[in-house]
Formats: sequence, C-alpha cells, structure tokens
Amino acid sequence: MITTIKSNINFFIKTFGCQMNEADSEKLKALLIHNGFNYSDNFNDADIIIMNTCSVREKAEKTAFQYLNQFRSHKRDNPEKIIAFGGCIGQEKKKELLKKFPGLDLVFGTESLLKVPSLLEEIRKKRRRIYDTEWDKENRIINENIPWVKNGKITGFVPISRGCNNFCSYCIVPFTRGEEKNRPFISVMEDVEDAVRNGIREITLLGQNVNSYYDGDKSFRDLVGALNKIDGLKRIRFMTSHPRDLSEEDIQMMNKCAKVCEHFHLPLQSASNRILELMNRGYTLEEYDKKIRYIKRLKPHTIVTTDIIIGFPGETEKDFEDTLNYVKKTEFDSAFTFMYSKRPNTKASELEDTVPESVKKRRLQDVIDLQEKISRCINEKYLDKKENVLVEGICKNEKLKLFGKTRTGKAVIFSGSDELVGQEVDLKIINTGPHTLAGEII
Ligand code: 5AD
Ligand code: SF4
Repeated sequence: MITTIKSNINFFIKTFGCQMNEADSEKLKALLIHNGFNYSDNFNDADIIIMNTCSVREKAEKTAFQYLNQFRSHKRDNPEKIIAFGGCIGQEKKKELLKKFPGLDLVFGTESLLKVPSLLEEIRKKRRRIYDTEWDKENRIINENIPWVKNGKITGFVPISRGCNNFCSYCIVPFTRGEEKNRPFISVMEDVEDAVRNGIREITLLGQNVNSYYDGDKSFRDLVGALNKIDGLKRIRFMTSHPRDLSEEDIQMMNKCAKVCEHFHLPLQSASNRILELMNRGYTLEEYDKKIRYIKRLKPHTIVTTDIIIGFPGETEKDFEDTLNYVKKTEFDSAFTFMYSKRPNTKASELEDTVPESVKKRRLQDVIDLQEKISRCINEKYLDKKENVLVEGICKNEKLKLFGKTRTGKAVIFSGSDELVGQEVDLKIINTGPHTLAGEII
C-alpha cells in the first residue's frame, strides 16, 4: 500500500454529516498517512484540502458549499493548493461540480475512497482536474481493509455494510450510497483485531441497517458473537438498527454478549401510522413499540435513542400530537430531531409540502423542548449511582480532566490520572445535566 514518501505534503479533511462520513474520513486519513502524506488540522497549512460532504438535508448541502467557497477564496492567494470534494454531494452532482466551481480539482464519489491517494498524485503531477464517481455494479461485497493508525484514540467506527435498499420515501441515501453491500465477515474481524492492536478499545459497527448484515450464512448476530470474543476489545456498539429488521433474536444475542453496550438506536421518524406508511418505513407504531418493550423487558436499564422527522408532507396537527405523545410515553434517552427537507429523486419530493415553515419550526421546537426535559430527568436518575466508564481521553477542563462514556453512552467527566485512558473505571456520579454527567472514582 505504501508508495513513495511524500513527507512534506500536508492534507486537511473537513467532514460533514453522519458517523459513516466520519468513518470514511478516518479511513481516508489513515490511507493518506500510509501513503506518506502528513495530516494537518488547519487548512491554512494544508497543500490538499479535502471535503467529505453530506446531502441528507438541504441545510447540510448549503453548509458544504459555503465551506467550498471559503476554501476556493483561500486558493486564490495559494493557487498551488489542491481542493478535493467527495462524499454524498460529490456522488450526487458528479462532474457538474467541476464546471460550477473553478478552483475545485477533484470530485470523488462514495465508492472512490481507496482511489483518492492515486487521484491526488495524478492531479499533483499533471495538474489536471478529475472526477471519479463510478460504482462497481458487479460486486455486492466490499473490501476496504485499511490498516489503522495508532493515534491515541480509544474508540473507532467500523463500517460493516454500505448503501441502503430501503428507499424510505424522504431519503437520498439509496441514491448517494447505492444498494446495500456487506463487508466479508473475515474482513470485519481482521479490521477489528487490527484496531485493537492500535489502541482501540471500543468499536461502533456502522451500517444504514446493521440488522440486515450477512455474509454467506453469517448474520449480524454471528458477527457480533465473534467480535465479542476478541481479546483486548472492551466494548461493542452498533448503529443503525432498522425497526423493521431488528428481531427478538437480535435483541437476545446483543444481551448475551458481555461487550455489547446497553444501547439501541432505533429511528422512529413518526408515531403516526399514516405518515409511517407514506414514509415507506415498513413498520407500524404498534410493531415498533413491541420491540421497545421487548428491549426494556429483557434488560430494563438499556437505553433507546431515536430519530424523528417533523413536517413530513401531509403531517397534520393530529399526526404531530401522536408523535409528541409517543415521545412523552416512551421516554427516549435522546432524540435527533429533524425538520423534513425535500431531497431530489426521492418519492416524497413528488408530494405536496403542505406544512408551512412556521408550523414546522414550532413543532420542531416543541419536540426538542419535550425531549430536553425527558433527557434531563433520565440523567438525574444517574445521581449517586455507580457507573462503569471507559476512559477515552483528556479534556480541557483543569479539574475534571478525564472524559469517557458509560455503557449506556452517557458522557462523563471526572478527575484522575492520564494513565487511566483506555481503561474501564467505576465512578460514582456526582452531578448531572441533560448532556453530560460528572463523576468521581470510587
Ligand atoms: N429530511 C429530514 N430528515 C431526514 N433524515 C433523512 N432524510 C431526511 C430528510 N429528507 C433523517 C432521518 C434519518 C436521519 C439519519 O436523518 O431521521 O434517520
Ligand atoms: Fe435512508 Fe431509510 Fe435507508 Fe435509513 S433506512 S438510510 S432513512 S432509506
């Protein structure tokens, strides 16, 4: 993998969007470092500025273009710099971006990650502009093992599948990331073993729908069961579970594996069956609720987080009230709440956007306020409790200088020695807020 050493060439990566994009940026960073490039966390010092973009909502797209313009104006004074633009917007808009944005050198798509170092080399040597947004239509598996880099990080993302076959009516992902492809079982195992050798103690398995993972006769449950046996790995998380595909057997298996943390991310989107149907989600509220109750019945302290979309076309006040009431009743630990955003190519983009902007804003604020209250109450229950925390690093706060997470994913700050980074410690929780807890070592 290592080509010539280009030790005086710096690159910077700006990442937008979801965990999958964060994972891709980490992989790209490792790949470039293995190829002799140097990482810089400041674009002013970088010879190559890379953007890894998101198009799931229009706002994310607008933000990416604002950054692109900022980087292009920086390039006017530094014309030798290379600007690369990849990820979901790169895939969606392809070569059109090169026409529209002079100064942009490379557009790469969601399946082009491994090619980026050689594409950058070609640009550096030949000073030509390139786009690479081809998808491999033949293969339904992906091979992407890039050696990890030892960088002091304790937690890492491990994609197990890419793309999505679900075509939820509002969602652009099946168009920007293509059909679902799984990574071979053995390749995920080797990747995680390598991660552990490089200091990673907690992995989050990523996929748009982790429960539909398979490789031959191996399922998601088999994969998690095998990962659970890897020495040195302390914790396993996973996201996202699709409420249609998460089975009772899956829930039982997650509970059986000691390293799997007590957390399910189960996007609800709406609590109105009419809206769920229009969204093409493939489950009813009753089916969703049954799974939550099963999770809580098997291990009551397991937390469930969710995603909610407000203002989907045709959402009435009654539909919204149903969602609000369900959020109140279910008491999610946290919820990512989004205002519906019309996306190109999607089925929902053909529907009339009936909810006025002001109503969407009010509904969004109502659900945010409610969730904030619930999260605060849930976190207050942690007060004086004993929690096992994996220490992830050192924060800027002088007194409480370590940070980590409980098994349920709550961020905790506390004081202790630097040597604890990477270890699990038992803490007593001494203070709580809606987003962070404070603790002390027992
Ligand atoms: N508008 C608003 N939110 C969306 N999401 C996906 N597509 C859209 C859209 N068009 C949200 C969903 C999904 C999360 C990752 O992003 O809630 O679960
Ligand atoms: Fe989008 Fe639905 Fe696939 Fe999630 S499951 S990525 S919301 S199409």
